[in-house]
This record gives sequence, structure tokens and C-alpha cells, in this order.
Amino acid sequence: MSRQITAPRGTRDLLPPETEAWGHVEATARDLARRYAFERIEIPLFERVELFARGLGESSDAVEKEMFRVSGARGSTEDGAEWALRPEPTAGIVRAYLEHGMHVRPGPLRLTLIGPMFRYDRPQAGRYRQFSQWDVEVLGDRGPAIDAELIELASRFYREVGLSGVVARVNSIGDAVCRPVYRQALVDHFTPHVERLSDDSQRRLALNPLRVLDDKELDPELAAGAPRSVDHLCDDCREHFHRVRALLDALAVPYEVDHRLVRGLDYYTRTAFEFVVEGREGQQQALGGGGRYDGLAEILGGRATPGIGFGVGLDRTLIALEEQGVAPPAAGPLVAVVGFEDDQADRLRVAATLREAGLAVRPDGTSRKLGKQLEAASKAGASWAAVVGEELREGRIGLKDLATGEQETVAVEEAAKRIGG
Ligand code: HAM
Repeated sequence: MSRQITAPRGTRDLLPPETEAWGHVEATARDLARRYAFERIEIPLFERVELFARGLGESSDAVEKEMFRVSGARGSTEDGAEWALRPEPTAGIVRAYLEHGMHVRPGPLRLTLIGPMFRYDRPQAGRYRQFSQWDVEVLGDRGPAIDAELIELASRFYREVGLSGVVARVNSIGDAVCRPVYRQALVDHFTPHVERLSDDSQRRLALNPLRVLDDKELDPELAAGAPRSVDHLCDDCREHFHRVRALLDALAVPYEVDHRLVRGLDYYTRTAFEFVVEGREGQQQALGGGGRYDGLAEILGGRATPGIGFGVGLDRTLIALEEQGVAPPAAGPLVAVVGFEDDQADRLRVAATLREAGLAVRPDGTSRKLGKQLEAASKAGASWAAVVGEELREGRIGLKDLATGEQETVAVEEAAKRIGG
């Protein structure tokens, strides 16, 4: 026998019944996108490496360590282009916005997508090489009202899928005016203690000192004494952050200001936020995150366009739901159609009528004994059986309640009504 082929490391198959919970999470996201007036956008799963290198920043983990490169047949690419599977969708959405001149549409634009992302990281619990995000982006809005609206939207998402204890962590990391001063303050703080920093942080201290704050191995003493971005904001950024917080208070959104929150991608300016389950800090696994990226369009060679958005990790949301023991809402009743002989045509006809009435129907296609068919129906989760027999000539079937075992003979249409409640 030849060796059995398994899925690549860092991927996971979504199997029933987990797909039920997944469907519920996705449906919640789509419904919220509708209620918050977002329009759907779809972009390719792979883009030029340059888009990510420029957009997310050379020093981001996503670019530096986790780029999932792809090439054509036998390693070829066109015109020397280098491609990578998208580690996130924001850079691609802004690229599409610029490429298609979407600024001429009445703005601000509210765009959303759900789909897979790829990061070639070391896989572990809650960290996959292929994972899915619900992403929302707003282009052409300086805020601060939209900042609060998006944080409220993501908070509502976690609540509506059924999670409890999810809090937003927010921070402001300044803009092109005040960031350089803050960067320097961090360099001045960490440089005398450089030997106490991890290898990663030592490298980042030169490239992007904000990311040193993100280092899980950072000495708590050094972290506690580190300068805070909020103390270095310029007047405009300070006022912006103040108003975002006032709006969150007005909306009663639970949040905490987290002075170490800097986010892992370089495009962020001003408002940055993440969502975590309270009391689960040890794991440091954000359920989602986002922020403002007012400079990204220009970095990508386009006209200056303010932007803000977030990405919700659907896999981690599902894991959190499982941990909290939240089951997806029960699906509607399942009906099995069973019969006595080789009456497959009758069974399929009855199934079709019940389905027209909107019911979920599973006809038994075998010629096994009725008892066996009913047994299989119960095992498959059916709560009703439509028993097809002689009386079908008068348009009637046996309707059996599989929980109680009671059965009566009713017209097919009547059966549909009873099952549908
Ligand atoms: P991010 O924080 O890199 O932000 O990812 C958002 C969420 O995706 C994370 O909070 C996490 O739940 C999930 N996620 C990230 N990496 C993995 C992984 N390897 N396995 C499983 N889940 C993962 C962004 O991607 C930004 N584009 C968000 C954004 C949109 N900012 C502005 N607009």
C-alpha cells in the first residue's frame, strides 16, 4: 500500500459538525457587514511581494519571516515578478482602491471581505499557516467617529457570536509628526540596556523600536519604565485619541488603554486596537485587531487617503467559542424520507415537496428494512421521518416523530406544515 497523504502542516480541515459553528460565525459577520453598510470586495489570494514589503513594512514579521512565496510552473514568474500569498488583505484592498480609482465613488468607502490569509510561521495552537479573517476597511474618513464605530462593530461581533469577556485594548501610536520623537525616546530608553533585549528586539531597536514593546520576552522592569506613546503625541493626535475614547465611553464599549500595544504591521498611525478574552492574557492571542493607516495609500504610490480597519481571526474566534462551551444555534429540523420497497421515485418526489416547503430532507436511498432505515435516520440526527407507502396514492404519508415514536397519516403538505412548526 502506498503512503497516505496528509494535509500540509499549519493547515486544518474544517469538518462537520465544526462547519456548523463556522457557518454561524461567518453568517454573523456577513449580517453585521450588512447592518453597518459595508460593501463586499474580493482581491487575489496572491500579490506582488513588493506590495507587502512596502505596505506592511520590511521589519514586520509578516514580511521578514512569514512570507509564503509562490511561483508559476517550474518556479517561473512573469517579468521577474515575485509573488506571495496574502498574509493580510489591507494592503491588497488599498492597492485595488488606488488601481481602480475608487476615490471617485461617493465616500467614505466601506469595504469588507472574508477569506483565507497565509503566513509561513511556525504552527502552534491558534496559529496556522492558512487562516481566515473577516476584514473591514473604511477609506477616506479621518475619524475619530469611524474609529469608535469600528471598535464598537468588532465588539458587537464577538458578543453576537456568543463570546463573553472580550475587551478591546486601544492605544494611539501617533503619526508622521510625533512618531519620530517617540521612536527616539524608545531608543534612548532601551539602548543602555541593549544586552537585556532578545536578538529580535536588538535588531528591531534600529529598524522599528516600537516593536520592542511587542516582544513577549521583554524584561518586565524595562517594559514598565518604557516611555509611553500617549505622552509623546502631537496636539492633533492627542485630540484625536481623546475623542475616540470619549466616543467609546458614550457607546459603552468596554476597552482598556494598553500602552504596550503597537501592532505588528508598520502601516499603522494613531488609533491601534486589539481584542482579547479577559483573563486569558497569558496566551497573548488576539482574536482580532486593527487600526488607522493614514499613510498607507501614499506608501503604495497613490494619493493620500486616510484609512482604518480591522481583521477578525475566524479560527481563533471559533477556538474561543469552543473554550467557552458556546454551541451554534440549533439548525432547523431534519426529515428523513423512508419507504417499504423499491419506491425510490416516490421517496424522492416526497423529498422534493418537503424541500420546496423549505425543510432539510435526507431521503434513504436503500432497499433495507423499514426498521433499519428509521434507525439510520435517528443516528443521522433526523427528528422526523416521512414514511412513504400505499397511501401516497391519495397524497398522504406516515409522519413519524422519531423522539416519541408516534406516527399519523397526513397529507404531504400538512406534514410540511407540522414539521416546520
Ligand atoms: P493582524 O493583527 O495581523 O492584523 O491579524 C488580525 C487577526 O488575524 C489576529 O488578531 C488573529 O486573530 C488572526 N491571525 C493572524 N495571524 C494568524 C495565524 N497565523 N493563525 C490564526 N489566526 C491568525 C491584520 O491582518 C490587519 N490587516 C488588520 C487590519 C485591517 N488593520 C487595518 N485593517
